[in-house]
Amino acid sequence: MVPRLFSQLVVSILLAITMDMTMARKPGLAKLNAIDSCWRRNPNWIEQREQLALCSVGFAAKMKGNIGEGTTSYVVTDPSDDPLNPKPGTLRYGTTMVRGKVWITFQKDMTITLQATLLVGSLTTIDGRGAIIHIARGGCLLLHKVHDVIIHGLRIHHCRSQPAHKVMGPGAQLMELSEMDGDAIRLVASTKVWIDHNTLYKCEDGLIDVTLGSNNVTISNNWFRDHDKVMLLGHDDAFEADKNMKVTVVYNRFGPNCNQRMPRVRHGYAHVVNNLYLGWRLYAIGGSMSPSIKSESNLFVAPKSTNKEITRQMNGKQWNFKSVGDALENGATFNTVGTGFVKPNYTDEQTFPVEKATVVRQLTRSAGALRCRRGSLC
Ligand SMILES: *[C@@H]1O[C@H](CO)[C@@H](O)[C@H](O)[C@H]1NC(C)=O
Ligand SMILES: *[C@@H]1O[C@H](CO)[C@@H](O)[C@H](O)[C@H]1NC(C)=O
Repeated sequence: MVPRLFSQLVVSILLAITMDMTMARKPGLAKLNAIDSCWRRNPNWIEQREQLALCSVGFAAKMKGNIGEGTTSYVVTDPSDDPLNPKPGTLRYGTTMVRGKVWITFQKDMTITLQATLLVGSLTTIDGRGAIIHIARGGCLLLHKVHDVIIHGLRIHHCRSQPAHKVMGPGAQLMELSEMDGDAIRLVASTKVWIDHNTLYKCEDGLIDVTLGSNNVTISNNWFRDHDKVMLLGHDDAFEADKNMKVTVVYNRFGPNCNQRMPRVRHGYAHVVNNLYLGWRLYAIGGSMSPSIKSESNLFVAPKSTNKEITRQMNGKQWNFKSVGDALENGATFNTVGTGFVKPNYTDEQTFPVEKATVVRQLTRSAGALRCRRGSLC
């Protein structure tokens, strides 16, 4: 009895010391944003992965549909890819062949070069925590008419355009896709999507495109860098259904070396809040066709030379660009325009406390894919 008790004591002391060291190595944990503080203080996150789903904020609201009874846990063990006949163990098998609710994790670090666009089904979570996962140098992600999707903890880069092609789709249905421009994550007519803690860079087209009536999307804690056209919310001036589009862009880090569209909004509404902007070239926030943007408590660090103005008004009229509590550094200017009402009107499930722009550097310090290992804090 005694030796066992003693060894338990030693184990718990060691555990306490290790946790302490982890805290010391991750000073960011001192000030976590509302999403991260919901799960990152849990050293047992790897056993309780589903906790994450209830940490989302903004228009995606809580991702309750992705967890609980009937959720299949699927582990990716094989980085290879066969677009037409996905092998068990591959990422594509998990996103298309597994029926119903699926929570996808990765057995080990891997780089996946997709041989064609990857279709992601409804009620799907891709959770990269616990491994370093690169999706690179091939096709990238497409959410086509789906709902309830979480994409967390991936490094997606060097996405390449794809010719028209046939691929396996959700529910084991083959799908004929038209040409793809080379976006990292593209949403087409999809709703309730949460894109959190991904690192996105150097793709042929955009990093995130939200298009064709997609709605209720939260884009949080991502790191966007080294890219021209970063984020498009609404792709077509003529597509009026996007008038109802609502997207929350929160706790992201933009830059260095981002050029434009952080985001560019057509028709819809974006709440852009508590993000860090490390410069831009053309502009940071812009839009056309009566877009409404509430820019709130972001930190904008203007580039040294070129253009200090954050916004750009493109085609159409009646832009509604509001700036509330933003911090403007290095000579940045924000051209407020419009008289419309720009409150997000969040429900209780969507709402979150907006922090002051002065703490945005801390809130976004661990933006991008985290390095999480079993037995330590994320
Ligand atoms: C978006 O979310 C709101 C609030 O939860 C909901 O009422 C609405 O139906 C959703 N819209 C779509 C297109 O899913
Ligand atoms: C919030 O409600 C006001 C008043 O009804 C409305 O004018 C505004 O467009 C709403 N905001 C959004 C994002 O829908």
